[in-house]
Amino acid sequence: MAFRERMNVVVVGHVDHGKSTVIGRLLADTGSLPQGKLEQVKALCQKNAKPFEYAFLLDALKDEQAQGITIDTARCFFKTEKRDYIIIDAPGHIEFLKNMVTGAARAEAALLVIDAKEGVQENSRRHGTLLSMLGIRQVVILVNKMDLVGYDPAVFESIRKEYTAFLGEVGIKPRGFVPISARDGVNLTHRADGYEGLTVLEYLDSFVKQSETDKLPFRFAVQDVYKFTEEGDDRRILAGTVESGSVSVGDPVTFYPSGKHSTIKTIEAFNRPALRTVSSGQAVGFTLSEELYIRPGELMCRAGETPACVSSRFRTHIFWLGKSPMIPEKRYKLKLATARVPVYLAEVRRVLDASNLKAETGKKELDRHDVGECVLETVKPIAFDLSAHIEGTGRFVIVDKYEIAGGGTILEALPSDHGILRDPMENNETTWERGTVSVADREKRNRHKSKLIVLTGDSEGLASSVGKEIEKRLFDLGFSAYFLGLSNMRRGLKNGSQEEPGLRDKIVRRLGDLARVLTDSGTLFIVAFPDADADDLGLLGDLNAPRPIFTVQVGPGVGRDAAVDLSLPTTDTSLAAAQVIRALQKDETLPEFEL
Ligand code: GTP
Ligand code: MG
Repeated sequence: MAFRERMNVVVVGHVDHGKSTVIGRLLADTGSLPQGKLEQVKALCQKNAKPFEYAFLLDALKDEQAQGITIDTARCFFKTEKRDYIIIDAPGHIEFLKNMVTGAARAEAALLVIDAKEGVQENSRRHGTLLSMLGIRQVVILVNKMDLVGYDPAVFESIRKEYTAFLGEVGIKPRGFVPISARDGVNLTHRADGYEGLTVLEYLDSFVKQSETDKLPFRFAVQDVYKFTEEGDDRRILAGTVESGSVSVGDPVTFYPSGKHSTIKTIEAFNRPALRTVSSGQAVGFTLSEELYIRPGELMCRAGETPACVSSRFRTHIFWLGKSPMIPEKRYKLKLATARVPVYLAEVRRVLDASNLKAETGKKELDRHDVGECVLETVKPIAFDLSAHIEGTGRFVIVDKYEIAGGGTILEALPSDHGILRDPMENNETTWERGTVSVADREKRNRHKSKLIVLTGDSEGLASSVGKEIEKRLFDLGFSAYFLGLSNMRRGLKNGSQEEPGLRDKIVRRLGDLARVLTDSGTLFIVAFPDADADDLGLLGDLNAPRPIFTVQVGPGVGRDAAVDLSLPTTDTSLAAAQVIRALQKDETLPEFEL
């Protein structure tokens, strides 16, 4: 049979309890090491007069990996008759946590190592909690270094009892406990005399492959949208990776959160002939029968299957790793599949210390290593799944100032009518009374379209001088233009190290509301917002909808942010203004013949 089953297994446990030794032993005893490796490492140890350690094998393999052989930073491979294993080593506590919560290491099963002499330690418990949170239910506990306690069954029993009780509290029923000595190779691949249970290897082979992601509903997270014009057409290719399920040419699809529909026209594979069908794990590009304006971050689902959830509020389990606590009213970034949105901690329902499972009631923030049941609120709706349903799109990472500060899983979608952004938008729809003159009427009389034009760039003075210049030129041409600079706000935010929580979003929201009124009145509303980031621009665009936004980055250092419509690496105010006006002509906001 050509196809061999593969399983990802993570090895976790407290520091120095023997994780790397266990892996080194498994590799050596299953004959999975490259020829001569064991001897080579042993000889090297002898030469340096240091005792041989099985854990050294991993380092030796890592060095080889630099030359492109058997192993990458944290993974080793070995096979049994039954299947292939990918064993994930956890180099250190924090790295492990990051890998686990980010999904860098997706494991289907875990070996949890506990030192017989030291017994259950803090990280033994934290890792157990984390495995439970991540939905890893196939767990075997290796009580290691039994040689240090003279293979005393009473020691083994007492650890078994204590840790089984702990796992019970986090909802894990362990598959079993194995008394081992990784150093001496006892009960890993060979059963010791008198031991009647399964060996580590037999336990591994007893794990069952979890539900194939292929059989789940189809999910494709749009990573990039490429536009091809060379054939004179307007073809767009949506590129990304299939998270789960499968889809074929001709299948109707829906995008979330936008809710747009289309049909798969072609499936493009890189450097390969076009495909008819594609399934989970594959990186591909799709073209659609009806061209849609799709933004990266959307989730494509197959019509007729369970759709993704869409909301801006959801109940989650969060594992916090940040140095500073996760607090309400501070803006973080949430990454889920390819979506990136600003997010707030809206509610803390329960906090557990992951190392002792003590619940702390009344706690309003998450400290490092806390596991919280929390409600998160994104500033605009995103598409996701419940982690119990589809793991890959039900798990997220929280970024605080460019660093991964936490991760978690989505337990429940909540109604999002109180969403931070939704609120003002919906109020706009329902409580404002408009006159009978439509935007189209105004645009016709103005002889130009209305638009929000945002100028950003590192130089504060430049963005606003360009904005003023554009306003002046448009005004002189008889157009309706209005300039507003945000330099004061920026100064307010940068003064002192502490940014008032939520202030920035409040200001952006107010600006968005203002933009909506002005663009609704047919005006070209020009804003200088020098330090706007992609989130700010996205938010302004959403608030100004359905009127369009045009974003321009001006000055030195442009190009660092691909999120803008126009980049102008110049410090010449009048040149920049002219280029913006030309772009507005090109996209037919301004009439060509007037100029
Ligand atoms: P970190 O990666 O630093 O968290 O450690 P680890 O869990 O990978 O532990 P490692 O495998 O490096 O082993 C730590 C120490 O315990 C080493 O000195 C090993 O030789 C020793 N050790 C591991 N297994 C056994 C065992 O079965 N018996 C004895 N006596 N020592 C062991
Ligand atoms: Mg190690």
